[in-house]
Amino acid sequence: MNKNICKIQFLNTNYSPIHLNQNEQLAEHLTIENSPILFGCRTGICGTCLVVIEGDIPPPSEEEKELLEVLAPENNQARLACQIQLTNDIKIIN
Ligand code: FES
Repeated sequence: MNKNICKIQFLNTNYSPIHLNQNEQLAEHLTIENSPILFGCRTGICGTCLVVIEGDIPPPSEEEKELLEVLAPENNQARLACQIQLTNDIKIIN
């Protein structure tokens, strides 16, 4: 498969995997129809899009980290879906 395409899988759901170009903004492509993830602000403030991610993607920014420490202090795989920079295949555990 083309290495510039990233596969996004939604574990433990019936949603089909989706494929996006590397470095695309995940939040721009996930909708209520194609994913189980709900979004609110899409700017990393509200925490609605909290998910657990498996995959090799860049670490959270300082702003994202601050919110994650409040929302999911125990889970170092927790991320805000709207802030994810897609650099690799990922699995999302909602
Ligand atoms: S949608 Fe608000 S933090 Fe991601």
